[in-house]
Amino acid sequence: MIPTPHITAKKGDFAKTVLMPGDPLRSKYIAENFLKDAVLVNNVRGIQGYTGYYEGSRVSVMASGMGMPSMGIYSYELFNFYDVENIIRIGSCGATNKSVNVRDLIIGQRAFTTSSFAENFGLPKDFLGSASEDLVEKAIKVCKKLNIKPVIGDVFSSDVFYGEKDKLDYYKEYNIMAVEMEAAALYMNAYKAGKKALLLATVSDSLVDEKAQNLTAEEREKSFSDMFIVAMEIAKIS
Ligand code: HPA
Repeated sequence: MIPTPHITAKKGDFAKTVLMPGDPLRSKYIAENFLKDAVLVNNVRGIQGYTGYYEGSRVSVMASGMGMPSMGIYSYELFNFYDVENIIRIGSCGATNKSVNVRDLIIGQRAFTTSSFAENFGLPKDFLGSASEDLVEKAIKVCKKLNIKPVIGDVFSSDVFYGEKDKLDYYKEYNIMAVEMEAAALYMNAYKAGKKALLLATVSDSLVDEKAQNLTAEEREKSFSDMFIVAMEIAKIS
């Protein structure tokens, strides 16, 4: 089913590995600043997707939009209609554990959620999605090589950004390191399609440390750039 309702790319336009930031402008930024010979392969609803080369390896980057329904649509279509094998989400998250600091890089092993996404997607209500072990291992290896010390742990994928009920006890009980809004849907799609997925997320704020400083624009850019490089290095060896 190509083109799909949400992607006009042709068969073969996407590389085997797709990096997915939430923001379409970030997708454009990565294509323009980190990829060689990047070609725009999708722009439906402004969800910019590019395919280019990172150190000689073909890699794609396309936005997921925000939230599980949006990530659900794009990851489903990439895995099931475009023969994409690996999707690496590159996003931001809020720390939910005091040991996690602003600017840290999270490797999300499992994505807890209270969303109805799993049930609506034909999975058990309490299905717990997880990252591909292979991609987690590669992420750890790449971080070591680049001298980055990641936080390897579980995250919570929330359906709400504003007005979320207090879940501090829940985060503590399940030892959740950070909250974001897309990983659970990505992991469920990878599970159903028999493909590989990984969440990399830079900590942009903290829900548990009032003293945590929000990043300056410059620090934010640097942390995100480090994460893109980790993701592209993983793509190169996948
Ligand atoms: N909640 C959900 N997603 C996020 C947050 C948050 O506090 N911070 C960054 N992404």
